[in-house]
Amino acid sequence: MISPPRIAVLASGRGSNLAALIGARERGELPVEFVLVASDKAGAGALRLAEAAGIPTLALSPKAYPDRRHYDLELFARVAASGADWLVLAGFMRVIDAEALRPWVGRVINIHPSLLPKYRGLHTHRRALEAGDAEHGASVHFVTAELDGGPVIAQARLAIEAGDDEQRLAERLLPLEHRLLPAVLGLLASGRLQWRDGTAHHAGQPLSAPLLLGDHGLE
Ligand code: GRF
Repeated sequence: MISPPRIAVLASGRGSNLAALIGARERGELPVEFVLVASDKAGAGALRLAEAAGIPTLALSPKAYPDRRHYDLELFARVAASGADWLVLAGFMRVIDAEALRPWVGRVINIHPSLLPKYRGLHTHRRALEAGDAEHGASVHFVTAELDGGPVIAQARLAIEAGDDEQRLAERLLPLEHRLLPAVLGLLASGRLQWRDGTAHHAGQPLSAPLLLGDHGLE
């Protein structure tokens, strides 16, 4: 039997997207092996979830390093040492140094709570509401040195409702994120999604627009 792709995850917070990945794997819907969950925050819920699932964990504090570059080089060395084939950023709230990232470009994906290229960075729900957008959503993209700027692979879209405030919109989007991220990782694991020459390819063709999360998965 061919061994499943090995996945490392970086997360800074509660880890609900990590929980979605672990759940998908446990239900037999995501044939991967999680080899490491690492965090810049020792108190991150994501680390506790990983421990409970029997996944090796690492808490690495940036405070012990002189600058971002040194921290990221060490973090990525630890990710490499885990034997990971792919790296998933699931709520990892740090910008990654370009040099540390370089050997990994094409093997790192991130989930971001906006319809990229709209609203890179923070406070995406608030910004969508303030702009009066009719629609909001989440994107999974390949990570490049440009913050939230790499090729978008897939999106989940959500109509903004009259009663939405920042918190309600975030809460309504989260279940879509929890379907989107495992679906994209599943495509990567199957080999149907690939990074080639700086662009995302699906089923051998360059993606001209992001895949869309529908009722039955990615379309
Ligand atoms: C999610 O909204 C994700 O899109 C963003 O950070 C949040 C992480 O939530 N990048 P969780 O830690 O996965 O619950």
